[in-house]
Amino acid sequence: MTAVAENPTAANPAPVPEGSTMITVKVARFNPEDGQGQRWESFQVPALSTDRFLNILIYIKSYLDGTLTFRRSCAHGVCGSDAMRINGVNRLACKVLMKDMLPKSGKPVTITVEPIRGLPVEKDLVVDMEPFFDAFRAVKPYLITSGNEPTYERIQSQADRARFDDTTKCILCACCTTSCPVYWHDGSYFGPAAIVNAHRFIFDSRDEAARERLDILNEVDGVWRCRTTFNCTDACPRGIEVTKAIQEVKRALLFAR
Ligand code: SF4
Ligand code: SF4
Ligand code: FES
Repeated sequence: MTAVAENPTAANPAPVPEGSTMITVKVARFNPEDGQGQRWESFQVPALSTDRFLNILIYIKSYLDGTLTFRRSCAHGVCGSDAMRINGVNRLACKVLMKDMLPKSGKPVTITVEPIRGLPVEKDLVVDMEPFFDAFRAVKPYLITSGNEPTYERIQSQADRARFDDTTKCILCACCTTSCPVYWHDGSYFGPAAIVNAHRFIFDSRDEAARERLDILNEVDGVWRCRTTFNCTDACPRGIEVTKAIQEVKRALLFAR
């Protein structure tokens, strides 16, 4: 995208890169200090087929409205900080390719963007992630062992490592949890991301606290609240089989590991 201009004015307009297509971006705005509640605001933005949707938001913030608030860091689908609802679907803004969103037949395009659902909105596209991380912390997402520390590494077979490989890929973006109808209905449900991160240690042969985590997930706000609707699996930008992981935890609860 073209270099950022300071304070664009009529005499110094926001740049329109060659080959770009003008699109409408409808953003859910919320400022806790203005008393207006949430409202939609539209921006006209020139988009290149090489852009990610994150570039579009950065363009708005750089040239059109510096007050637009959103999180982002890595811009490469690694940090998990830019989860948002784009055209009604939870996505990482940096993983949405504009070439997939631009019109094929010259028709006008409007893209809507809202904060992820089920967590309190702090400003514009930024939500309070604390309830999400509370659930994550509650399942003890770290290796728990007893006895003497080994002198070298803790040995594990390839087959044992493979058992929880999928759930190691979680980047804690919250796309899954905030696409879950059960979580929307009642935020006290641990949610799929917490269960995925519990799974990662429950099935780790080096860990000794599987029973403890299973007891936590057997509680009223645990895995039994899941209705197996697969929203979470569809939403995961890392391709983790979230619902399958939840089913494995349920099975571990029903039968001995
Ligand atoms: S499969 Fe379970 S955790 Fe995933 S979205 Fe559906 S109800 Fe929520
Ligand atoms: S399981 Fe997938 S969607 Fe859920 S927090 Fe982890 S990376 Fe994000
Ligand atoms: S900015 Fe890091 S995942 Fe998108």
